[in-house]
Amino acid sequence: MTAAFTIAIDGPAAAGKGTISRAVAAHFGFAHLDTGLLYRAVGAKMLAGTDPEAAARALTVEDLAGENLRSHEVAQAASRVAVIPEVRAALLDFQRGFARRAGGAVLDGRDIGTVICPDAEAKLFVTASVRVRAARRHLELAGKGDKRSFDEVLADVEARDRRDRERAEAPLRPAADAVEIDTSEMDIETAVARAIAVIEDLRG
Ligand code: CDP
Repeated sequence: MTAAFTIAIDGPAAAGKGTISRAVAAHFGFAHLDTGLLYRAVGAKMLAGTDPEAAARALTVEDLAGENLRSHEVAQAASRVAVIPEVRAALLDFQRGFARRAGGAVLDGRDIGTVICPDAEAKLFVTASVRVRAARRHLELAGKGDKRSFDEVLADVEARDRRDRERAEAPLRPAADAVEIDTSEMDIETAVARAIAVIEDLRG
């Protein structure tokens, strides 16, 4: 088993983080944690009537497999519970433990390079223009039978961006030492290849 090596991948909604993170983890043989799922699972519990802080403290791995976690209602609820410092604090140890596991780990989210793993060996910040991101999310949701218009999806992405960037606790921003990848004009293969090249460079 190789030593711990943490890859932090942050960025706004639908920038391509998830796909890039899964591909990077597969390429290096590392474990992958989509930290957005933690906030989505807490958001889903809040929608079902549980206090978000209590939900965050009691979260289990089974909660991360919930079927409706990818819906836009749950995404909005996730970004609402994500502003609560006690919720973020309750999820911290699990994320840090995952990051330092032997064999290497990829974590994607909003604050991995800045707060969760400031000492990560590799940090990427994946972005794309808001219209490109909304178009990708619109396509993804349409594929699941969601009938919302492009403009509605755009408004949702903008609202979540605003909440994620303006919150006091762990706001979305690139770490000073993160390498930025703008995927607005890249297809997914190009974005993945670029991410792998950057990390290979950092691994030396
Ligand atoms: O997939 P998408 O990028 O749309 O969202 P996600 O990564 O699943 O995250 C859902 C929400 O959880 C975000 O809008 C953030 O408010 C919150 N989140 C966070 O605050 N910190 C993280 N490390 C990950 C997600």
